[in-house]
Amino acid sequence: MRIGIVGSGHVGGTLARLFGKAGHEVAVANSRGPETLRGLVDELDGQVRAATVEEAARFGDVVVVAVPFGRYAGLPADPLSGKIVIDAGNYYPERDGHYPELDEDRTTSSELLQRHLGGARVVKAFNTMRWDHLREYGRQSSAMQRYGMPVSGDDVDAKRRVSDLIEQIGFEPVDAGGLADGRRQQPGSPIYGADLTGGELHERLGAP
Ligand SMILES: NC(=O)c1ccc[n+]([C@@H]2O[C@H](COP(=O)([O-])OP(=O)(O)OC[C@H]3O[C@@H](n4cnc5c(N)ncnc54)[C@H](OP(=O)(O)O)[C@@H]3O)[C@@H](O)[C@H]2O)c1
Repeated sequence: MRIGIVGSGHVGGTLARLFGKAGHEVAVANSRGPETLRGLVDELDGQVRAATVEEAARFGDVVVVAVPFGRYAGLPADPLSGKIVIDAGNYYPERDGHYPELDEDRTTSSELLQRHLGGARVVKAFNTMRWDHLREYGRQSSAMQRYGMPVSGDDVDAKRRVSDLIEQIGFEPVDAGGLADGRRQQPGSPIYGADLTGGELHERLGAP
């Protein structure tokens, strides 16, 4: 599969590493331009290339957004139209500035991203685990108990395809409901940063 990644930091860089290793074609972008990504791309296995944000968005069948939440309004909606967009981001007001609709729990950060991107199919995933655990905790043997990864979204097919990707890098996808349910995997929720197995995560989430 072709995977675009917008954001090349802790989370974006880690997912570029994991998806490249899993055999996917990856195009990764940051805010400063492809020439600043040479070091990262050179050290990664597989077919990983540096791109502009626009190129990474057009390249991917699936595009990961791994930038600070406060930057979401700058993401280009046109090239992401029709794409599956994985929202790995979290809202931290001290970093991102205050959004009253989030502070008052009237909506979720993923719903705001979905509204901005219009034609994309947004799925929230990879936001609950620390980047270094994400890098290290995947288990390729199904004989080993896997860490769970919550997946929320309103498009069933998009969620299934993201769940397949999660399995390929060694985690157990766990259905966490729709985008509005994304609040159950936000900072401050009981599963956030908890590093639970798939079974424990199912139990803690209960029915979506
Ligand atoms: N760190 C974690 O353990 C962790 C775990 C789960 C989820 N998250 C969430 O994931 C998101 C990313 O976190 P991170 O720790 O990976 O951050 P990070 O290491 O600071 O990396 C952020 C990346 O976003 C890029 N970026 C910023 N604005 C951009 C824009 N307008 N267009 C394109 N790229 C842009 C930056 O590019 P430049 O360097 O060129 O500016 C950088 O590559 C955040 O929402 C965070 O809350 C973090």
